[in-house]
Amino acid sequence: MALVIRTTKDMLEWRKSVEGRSVGFVPTMGALHLGHEALIQKARAENELLVLSIYVNPTQFNDKSDFEKYPATWDADLKLAEKNRVDVVFAPIYSEMYPDQYSYKVIETDFSKKLCGANRPGHFDGVLTVVMRLLNLVRPEKAYFGEKDFQQLSLIQGMVKAFFLSTEIVPVETVREKDGLAMSSRNVRLFPRDREMAPLIHRVLKTAKSPLEAIQEFEKQNWKVDYVTDFSGRRFAAVYVGEVRLIDNVKI
Ligand code: PAJ
Repeated sequence: MALVIRTTKDMLEWRKSVEGRSVGFVPTMGALHLGHEALIQKARAENELLVLSIYVNPTQFNDKSDFEKYPATWDADLKLAEKNRVDVVFAPIYSEMYPDQYSYKVIETDFSKKLCGANRPGHFDGVLTVVMRLLNLVRPEKAYFGEKDFQQLSLIQGMVKAFFLSTEIVPVETVREKDGLAMSSRNVRLFPRDREMAPLIHRVLKTAKSPLEAIQEFEKQNWKVDYVTDFSGRRFAAVYVGEVRLIDNVKI
């Protein structure tokens, strides 16, 4: 049975009680799928103890309705945790993570303003701040992040280095549906016809000769393109498929 912890005090106490043992950590916002499971399985294999956090972090949503619509599947999430022998599920309530009402923040001033940061002001401040808080509570040897959110992964690696944190950040490759669509908690919100077309994102990112060509392909579907950008050997995209904002990236 996984131990469910709801308060920061209990989390700190648990961590103290296992001093000296290696702790792996997988932070999530729940609505777990096979992408999250890949992180959990890697962490399970590499650590004595495994903590999974489930916390829909309000400070990283710049769109209130996106936050409100974020899927919650607690029973299934707990089952997935049990199946993968997670030791602790840390699922704090909002006020536990922000006793300061979010008056203290971690802000990166360069890369966080590009790509997903350009049209989502404050998004990465929220991500970095909550991850810093979670890392301080769990004090893991290793923490696992998906390449699906490559910019997030890079910013977290940068933060760990900048603040001399001792946690090793372990990247995990993007897990995809058979048709190539990157697994995401948001995919369930796609209308059937949009779900059918959504694998085009991955296909076009791989095959287009330039970002401009990719943008044109997406616009042919009447999708609103947030960005397609080549950066540091990868191609990144964020596209609204109907109402649902999907992101993906591939090595080029
Ligand atoms: P969430 O979207 O729940 O994702 C949790 C972790 O799972 C992230 O590291 C993400 O990159 C990874 N992940 C999601 N889909 C994946 C896929 N298809 N393949 C591989 N990894 C995948 O990312 C967040 O939550 C939050 O921003 C968080 C880091 C928890 C901070 O609130």
